[in-house]
Amino acid sequence: MVNFNLNGKSVSADVAEDTPLLWVLREQFDLTGTKFGCGMAQCGACTVHIDGQPMRSCVMPVSAAKGKAVTTIEGFMETEQGKAIEQAWVEAQVAQCGYCQSGQIMSAAGVIKNAKGPLTREEVLDGMSGNLCRCGTYNQIASAVVNAQKALS
Ligand code: FES
Ligand code: FES
Repeated sequence: MVNFNLNGKSVSADVAEDTPLLWVLREQFDLTGTKFGCGMAQCGACTVHIDGQPMRSCVMPVSAAKGKAVTTIEGFMETEQGKAIEQAWVEAQVAQCGYCQSGQIMSAAGVIKNAKGPLTREEVLDGMSGNLCRCGTYNQIASAVVNAQKALS
């Protein structure tokens, strides 16, 4: 049994401790906003926040979340920061097929949170280089993150 906080609620996962967190989120808790892409920490589709920092849930055993706060895209979208990023995403018309976008937004939140000052497009692209998008939405993402940071400051 692995106990952790999930989107603000205490939960228990009755699974083997080495089960990837991504599987637990999607299959036990029906939180399907977090996507499976590569399964090897190479694409960022599975990004969630652990104690507020973006992490790849496909390679993280659920035991690593023990006692921690896990936030998925579903929980993050309820926050003020999530709503501001969503608004910036809509205004920049970022999404194409959408598959990578929840992971992109979770990583974007980390880039904004860890920024030392106003972000440039280059800094955003650099900070999010671990998130791949088959549709090539990188330019729109860079604009949206710069605008979201301004909206939140
Ligand atoms: S599915 Fe986790 S990084 Fe690609
Ligand atoms: S929007 Fe299609 S993979 Fe990124």
